[in-house]
Amino acid sequence: MTLTNELETPAFVTDEKVLQKDLALLRDVADQASCKLLYSPKASVLSTVLQNIVRQVDGFACSSPYELRLLDQLCIGTRSLHLVSPLIKSETLAAFGDRLDYLTVNSLSQWDFLRDSVSPPTSVGLRLNPQLSFVRDARYDPCRQQSKLGVPMSKLADLVATDPAVLRGITGLHFHNNCDGADFGNLLTTARHIQSVIPDILHQVDWINIGGGYMFDLASDYMDFYEAVAIFREGFGLEVFMEPGAAAVRRCGTIEATVHDIFGSDDTLIAILDTTVNHMSEVFEFQFEPDVLGHIDGGLHSYTLAGCTCLAGDVFGHYSFDKPLVIGSRLMFLNMGAYTLSKAHRFNGVALPTIYRRRLDGSLDKVGADSFDEFAQHTGGTNVAVA
Ligand SMILES: Cc1ncc(COP(=O)(O)O)c(C=O)c1O
Repeated sequence: MTLTNELETPAFVTDEKVLQKDLALLRDVADQASCKLLYSPKASVLSTVLQNIVRQVDGFACSSPYELRLLDQLCIGTRSLHLVSPLIKSETLAAFGDRLDYLTVNSLSQWDFLRDSVSPPTSVGLRLNPQLSFVRDARYDPCRQQSKLGVPMSKLADLVATDPAVLRGITGLHFHNNCDGADFGNLLTTARHIQSVIPDILHQVDWINIGGGYMFDLASDYMDFYEAVAIFREGFGLEVFMEPGAAAVRRCGTIEATVHDIFGSDDTLIAILDTTVNHMSEVFEFQFEPDVLGHIDGGLHSYTLAGCTCLAGDVFGHYSFDKPLVIGSRLMFLNMGAYTLSKAHRFNGVALPTIYRRRLDGSLDKVGADSFDEFAQHTGGTNVAVA
């Protein structure tokens, strides 16, 4: 990754070389496991990203009618379209009809409600809560206490034992119980647990979706992944889907920013940038310091890098460089491809980053820019007289 000073900042850049490398890894692991590879577009719906992804995946695991429409319009071709969400409205099913290949409902009550609205070609799955937690932060743990996500597996086993008809019309299962995991041991533990608690239900269905939540690029060994998939494929004859998001796109995205002011505050030098944590909302949500190109531990020149909004906590953290920053210096935030623009907002009216793509030959294209008109449209437009 290099800084070029060619871009209008703040800029979000997708590097297609990195994207294609990470997609090739996912494709390879999916093929080795004989698993269908879906992409979960909640991580990034940039058109440049989707154009690359569509060539490598078997389908898309959407979360909402907007994602479905976008994928349907942009690039679906022969790829399968899946919908998984705690809220599925019958209008959505009416609008998508036969074009929806797989639907995963979150609860048996949603299924009762939607049963008559599903078109016959749509295969319906039920989200399971495998009741195994691996995520320390409860906000991101689908198996937390009082979870809203999926039917607890032990409860499902009891319900089906009393009344097997509760699963009428259900031909698949879905689970997703990790976040940024690099250890497929968690997935294997989950697969074994599901196998031991609901073997009869696994024999009744045709497919299982094992979710996302794993950083394939950070893993050193895929054996546990292959074994987990084999439990379902070989043990129960199921078609297996995986639906990563971040693993496909996190590394290919960077945010570039310019330093606009530098001043002292208590014992630190503040550098104000033309970006904000609101362009990278997970930085604020998780309170982590994002990687910045050129930062070196113990570097001679240290700064608190800060965003440009009024929020006191709009800061990225403390960074050191071997050369001093000056007004006009450029900085690059690394590993920003996932859950960045899809969660970004315009707090304080600060425009969203301008979007670029770096092609395989190194050339840069501007592919999109925010505008005052889009900002104003969200406020109700400028045609309303404010007396
Ligand atoms: C149901 C489901 N599937 C897939 C994903 C993608 O997860 P990740 O981006 O961590 O791979 C998520 C993320 O929240 C999810 O909730």
